[in-house]
Amino acid sequence: MASAPREQWSSRTGFLLAAIGSAVGLGNMWRFSYLTAENGGAAFVVLYLGITLLVGLPVLLAELVVGRGSQESPIRALVHYGGARWRPLGVVFVTAGFLILAYYGVIAGWTLRYAATALFVGFDADVADRFSDIAQGGDAFGCHVLFMLATIAIVAGGVAAGIERTALILMPALFVLVCGLALYAATLDGGEAGYAYYLSTDFHKILSIDVLKDAAGQAFFSLSLGMGAILTFGSYLGRDNHLPNESLVIASADVGIAFLAGLVVFPLIFALGLSDKVSGSTVGALFITLPQAFAEMGGVGRVVGTLFFAALVVGALTSAISLLEVVTASAIDTLGWSRRRAAWLTGAAITLLGIPAAWSLDVLGVMDEVANNLFLLGGGLALAFFVGWVMPDPIGAVRVGAEGVRWFFLWRALLRFAVPAVLLFVLYRAVPDTLANVWALLAG
Ligand code: TRP
Repeated sequence: MASAPREQWSSRTGFLLAAIGSAVGLGNMWRFSYLTAENGGAAFVVLYLGITLLVGLPVLLAELVVGRGSQESPIRALVHYGGARWRPLGVVFVTAGFLILAYYGVIAGWTLRYAATALFVGFDADVADRFSDIAQGGDAFGCHVLFMLATIAIVAGGVAAGIERTALILMPALFVLVCGLALYAATLDGGEAGYAYYLSTDFHKILSIDVLKDAAGQAFFSLSLGMGAILTFGSYLGRDNHLPNESLVIASADVGIAFLAGLVVFPLIFALGLSDKVSGSTVGALFITLPQAFAEMGGVGRVVGTLFFAALVVGALTSAISLLEVVTASAIDTLGWSRRRAAWLTGAAITLLGIPAAWSLDVLGVMDEVANNLFLLGGGLALAFFVGWVMPDPIGAVRVGAEGVRWFFLWRALLRFAVPAVLLFVLYRAVPDTLANVWALLAG
């Protein structure tokens, strides 16, 4: 195999922004707000924070360690530390990349379309009726294709010149946009009810197992864990990065932006008296209720709506890049393809795999559920087990660049016991439901 030296990030900031770009995406705005609305506001937020800290953070660090230590993309990284019997897990990771990006690109296509609508014509009050036309069919597929072309072009450009450079420009812009929108939302009359809904809660809900399941799925999805995306980004790092610190920065930024997004979405919806329309569907809050709010706000709504959906497009793009990079890097490393060829061919295959999701919201919903409940949670469980029990000397590997740290035994204990316990419990509850839904879709 051609062994050109492995690509590397050109700066620590570039790596961090790319990893934060992977984490921050539709998950922070679209999924986070509808799950919060569905699961009783702050109860969900608290549980989600807890799981991010106790389960997400250790797995995030584990992915970085395996990637940096092996300097390989997922399939070869797992074989590097665990032998050939771990190859199938790597293949599952790459499969998850195909599956997730296929429907993620469709949703990202909607955001592209919404941003253009807000900018050029403004929203109508009847988005609710039109949503199912916008979201399904040839138009949805067309927007998906446009979005995928941008994603592929960036990944084909390389780690430093494509992915890193994009993140260096887009992530600061995203941050400014979301902060600006949150400040604007704070000026709206009647927004208090939104804050109250978001930040206070019926704490009985915390005890519900469904909330736990949603919180765990969300923590993994939002941090981009369980399918080797962070692992792949870690493989372009050198020996001087302090991986525990990098993990903390990435996780804090991810949680911080999700929280900020809630400070945009909830006051907006409540200020315009649309709160009764929030829950219900997975797409409701973002793609129906908010455009209605923007429509009612007239000219201001066009500006705010454009900025809001532009922020979503940016978030989605930097996340999609990381999903495609898993598949592309694997094709480069295992098949010996050039980066260009790998990015365009795998990207084209993923674009086509988006067709069923672009034609049916039901299919899209089931793909999202399968991805989260089976692939990411299962993948996270397997990876925690791998690093906790199989990989030789993970503590030695994580200590590189972080020599002073004393508590790595705690990290390994979490990976060995706490993380698998939580994930097994959640999977035990989630898998039967998910399989039933897949079955219902196939049968009906
Ligand atoms: N984290 C992204 C979001 O919140 C989505 C994403 C990017 C992702 N890469 C991933 C999810 C890898 C799971 C695995 O929108």
